Amino acid sequence: MHTHKKLNNGFEYIEINNSSASAKIALNGAHIFHYEQKGKKPLLWLSENSNFEHKKAIRGGIPICWPWFGTSIKQTQPQHGFARTSLFELTNINELDSNTTELSFKLEDSYETRKLWDYKFLLEFTVTISDKLTMKLKTTNNDSKEFKITQALHSYFLVSDISDVSIKGLDKRPYLDALSMENKVQNSEITFNEEVDRVYQEVDKTIIIQDKNRFIIIQNEGSSSAVVWNPWIDKCSRMSGMKDDAYKSFVCIESANAFDDFKIIKPKQTHILKATLF
Ligand code: BG6
Repeated sequence: MHTHKKLNNGFEYIEINNSSASAKIALNGAHIFHYEQKGKKPLLWLSENSNFEHKKAIRGGIPICWPWFGTSIKQTQPQHGFARTSLFELTNINELDSNTTELSFKLEDSYETRKLWDYKFLLEFTVTISDKLTMKLKTTNNDSKEFKITQALHSYFLVSDISDVSIKGLDKRPYLDALSMENKVQNSEITFNEEVDRVYQEVDKTIIIQDKNRFIIIQNEGSSSAVVWNPWIDKCSRMSGMKDDAYKSFVCIESANAFDDFKIIKPKQTHILKATLF
């Protein structure tokens, strides 16, 4: 079953409830801000202080960072691109069976997007809600010149306490430490006792979040980079839409094409970034 919902300010989202999971997806940014397998805790973290407003990203869930990840070359352009603050069109909802709902969204270039990034494009986002959350982000170049993208499915995962969390699957991988801008190599699993902001490269398909009483699996395709981020105490207190102690209850593991893993897309060509979370 799915229901279209609208807040008093006109902010629209779709609520999905099938036999295996429930989810909420906003049209603003095609932003998944809730996903929960039946009988389990929510997989995604959502800030208690988040905005639900047009042209603003929700703090939590899965913002889509596109067509660039992080800051762009021109410092005046919005961090993480414009997809997460753009209104997508819902093109299809398909209840494939009682356990599986598939939703499709699209965003095309407009006068607004061309002011920020002067290319013709089609961005299609397909989400499958079942006992796994599957996302497919397909970029098509509809322009006559090639373009370059970096991107991320910026998943905020709910964890019991960040101090009890470890990330497996990134050992021996090179990474850019975005705090010192140094290139380093991971040596062991990742644990958290300070701010972490890293872009891992040469990443294999599977990454595992080991939490106190559960583990979460992330499987990526069309991507060989992953961002690992937790703002820790100081940055968290400076961030918009976050309570001061919010850093304790989430970790971001972002399925990405970032840093050296950028994609050049030629006219009429496509690229698909896929992530499956469970
Ligand atoms: C992460 C970046 O992907 O996103 C961090 O690595 C950044 O540096 C974080 O702080 C949140 O960004 P924003 O724009 O949503 O506040």
